[in-house]
Amino acid sequence: MNDILKIDELVIELDNGKNKHILIDSVSINIPKNKITAIVGESGSGKTMTFLSVIGLLPEGIYVKSGDIIFDSCKIINLSEKDLRKIRGREIFYIFQEPMTALDPVFNIESQMIEILLSHNITDYSDAKKIALAALKEVGIEPTKIKSYPHNFSGGQLQRILIAMAIMVSPKLIIADEPTTSLDVVTQLEILNLLKNLTKQKNISIVLISHNIGIVYNYSDYVYVMYLGQIVEEGVTCDVVENPVHPYTEALINSIIKMGVKQKIKPIEGIPGEIYNLLDGCRFYDRCSYRIDKCKFKPPKKSRKGGYYYCWVK
Ligand SMILES: Nc1ncnc2c1ncn2[C@@H]1O[C@H](COP(=O)(O)OP(=O)(O)OP(=O)(O)O)[C@@H](O)[C@H]1O
Ligand code: SF4
Ligand SMILES: [Mg+2]
Repeated sequence: MNDILKIDELVIELDNGKNKHILIDSVSINIPKNKITAIVGESGSGKTMTFLSVIGLLPEGIYVKSGDIIFDSCKIINLSEKDLRKIRGREIFYIFQEPMTALDPVFNIESQMIEILLSHNITDYSDAKKIALAALKEVGIEPTKIKSYPHNFSGGQLQRILIAMAIMVSPKLIIADEPTTSLDVVTQLEILNLLKNLTKQKNISIVLISHNIGIVYNYSDYVYVMYLGQIVEEGVTCDVVENPVHPYTEALINSIIKMGVKQKIKPIEGIPGEIYNLLDGCRFYDRCSYRIDKCKFKPPKKSRKGGYYYCWVK
């Protein structure tokens, strides 16, 4: 089997005590082994919820209503917390946008790295420090800083430390959720290169979640474009970015600066609709310059042109 992760027809619902709302609507995603698969879309499109469900960390009141999640050929949907703990941080390593979410400010980096190794029975105490030091060196953090605390590091250094932690455990899958958003451009590229090398050198599969189509273009092999809780287009990254089919993908691409190309940047018109108040038809209808009446009332079907897309007109 060439997919490390298969998300099939996933539906995630929010129950706020008064009403129920579908946040993720029949999303299917396949993550191939040893590749970088990007998930791209504007804020609120459902990138994070989809992948938090994989590691069983959805916020309170939000739950998987239906669908399936298969990791490394095993069904992991609705696993007990005890079984999920064996996978989370060991088989699947989640790098959060805000690294402090994953690090404890009270303990130094050494004890947090050693704790990961011991809690997953990867090594015994005598070898743990050696492994931690080697991993820090690999990501360009001065090993003598191992006794420092999270607040002693910059955002970029903390992301490197998280990647060092991932290297130590050698997971099958890393989910990197906007790993570079708050970093300067040079540090962004260094972090993304580190991630890219992991797929090549350590056979680790990566999900790269981003709202930045430029990063997606340069660093991923395959891409899923999300809009308001649904996939609207998927395909080999260079095909999708160079020849987008779905009007939303096209708008996303036109909204960024292309290096060396004289052009007018066209921000995407309008704002994403409310996930709580959706049309029956295409969710991009209000913002789409290609729309026809049918789009308003009938949800578009999946079609194929290179990759897959959902649109009545294209
Ligand atoms: N804790 C929460 N309670 C209720 N709704 C939430 C919560 N977190 C997210 N949502 C809603 O779930 C939907 C998907 O959000 P999600 O965080 O997955 O989007 P995203 O694509 O990751 O956005 P961003 O790029 O801003 O991280 C949005 O409509 C959002 O408002
Ligand atoms: S289905 Fe219609 S409204 Fe939706 S993206 Fe296609 S053309 Fe636009
Ligand atoms: Mg998010």
